Amino acid sequence: MKLNGIKITWLGHATFLIETPGGKKMIVDPWVTGNPVTPADKKSFERLDLMLCSHGHSDHVGDAADLAKKHSPIVVGIYELCLALQKHGAKQIAPMNKGGSQKIGDITVTMVNAFHSGGFEEGSSLIYGGEPCGYVIEFENGLKIYHAGDTCVFGDMAIIHELYRPDVAMLPIGDRFTMGPREATYACRLLKLKAVIPMHYGTFPMLTGTAEEFGKELKAAGLPVELITMKPGETIS
Ligand code: NI
Ligand code: MN
Repeated sequence: MKLNGIKITWLGHATFLIETPGGKKMIVDPWVTGNPVTPADKKSFERLDLMLCSHGHSDHVGDAADLAKKHSPIVVGIYELCLALQKHGAKQIAPMNKGGSQKIGDITVTMVNAFHSGGFEEGSSLIYGGEPCGYVIEFENGLKIYHAGDTCVFGDMAIIHELYRPDVAMLPIGDRFTMGPREATYACRLLKLKAVIPMHYGTFPMLTGTAEEFGKELKAAGLPVELITMKPGETIS
């Protein structure tokens, strides 16, 4: 997979740091402080320009408010989640909803569906944080990345392919709370991807899906998709 100037670092679970060809730093689903698999030297950032949040669960936005306060990135999320993060100190929010796109600098962000649940933890209570979503991110070099968030497989992933043509996707494979390897393989069939990066696995024992199993399923399905298995902290470019 040629990324043509984009650098992708997996920080473990659903958290990715993406550097654009123009040098902008984007974080997706920021959860590093309590993330047991994020390397200690990768838990802080020099700069963050953009933050994308898929839903309000703490394993996706655990560090969103603190990092937003510290680095003042533009925070993208579904309307209700943006408001919750604004209340917790995010200075620049760019709320949106499913089916819509917005251009932020050189990047176009499209919010797509995800089937999951969504709540935002506020102290000891859980407030409504809007519906969970995924994102298709189009970079200035033409590459399109789909971060699926937490979701099951769904037939409208075929529409995501037809409308947006993502080249590479981050798909959850950990099972129990999201797709497992079998479902993620079916998702690859619908999405007709060039490459897939498995995520949301290996974080804690409840997540039993593995990249090995995913690789076997992809092979058995005969799909021409490149499996890119990353280690937490690893960067590909
Ligand atoms: Ni979740
Ligand atoms: Mn999750």
